[in-house]
Amino acid sequence: MLGLFITLEGSEGAGKSTNLGYIHDYLVNAGHDVMQTREPGGTPLSEHIRNLLLGHEYDGMADDSELLLMFAARAEHLAKRIIPALTAGKTVLCDRFTDATYAYQGYGRGIPLERIARLEDWVQGPLRPDLTLFLDLPVELGMKRAGERSAPDRFEKQQMEFFDKVRHGYLDRARQFPQRYRVIDASVNLEQVQSQISTVLADFLESRK
Ligand SMILES: Nc1ncnc2c1ncn2[C@@H]1O[C@H](COP(=O)(O)OP(=O)(O)OP(=O)(O)O)[C@@H](O)[C@H]1O
Ligand SMILES: [Mg+2]
Repeated sequence: MLGLFITLEGSEGAGKSTNLGYIHDYLVNAGHDVMQTREPGGTPLSEHIRNLLLGHEYDGMADDSELLLMFAARAEHLAKRIIPALTAGKTVLCDRFTDATYAYQGYGRGIPLERIARLEDWVQGPLRPDLTLFLDLPVELGMKRAGERSAPDRFEKQQMEFFDKVRHGYLDRARQFPQRYRVIDASVNLEQVQSQISTVLADFLESRK
């Protein structure tokens, strides 16, 4: 039987990387063999593509190039790490996945969602996450948190308006896929965020028994 596929989403500075370790430990304590990874990235080639996507060397790349590079990185990640891990019965925990492509390249950049759906079907076949935790917070607060952490990457340089579209996109998808999406209020302190996460994980794991 395939293992569980859990993804963590949220816009810049929402706390995905911060909470990944907490989720990892929660799953391990619940008896899961966890493979933790991230997108774009997760394999040597995909991490190379990540650097092209997030770095500033190719500022102004065409929207379609960005979209196709995301899916090229994803195809490699799926083939080399995600599918082998799921097939081995592992629980895969991924920092961002295709919902981020819909949110950023679709809602944010304005690429028709239908095109993204075609690439999703092509690259993933029927594979979709079993659970998606969406860390939601006002755009200004995420930017403030990310700004205090490090210099802005190519995506973080975007305007407020872009991130509003991204957030709206995630919330739209949460409404479209209520069976797998869980919206977490990430504007509160870390302890309160993690308490919401543990409730969601407990319910989800219970429903899978
Ligand atoms: N609940 C919280 N309250 C206050 N600060 C937080 C909270 N969660 C995370 N932070 C801080 O906000 C900053 C951004 O968090 P983090 O790097 O985890 O975000 P991210 O979602 O991974 O962002 P990115 O999309 O850029 O990878 C970090 O400095 C982190 O310590
Ligand atoms: Mg992060």
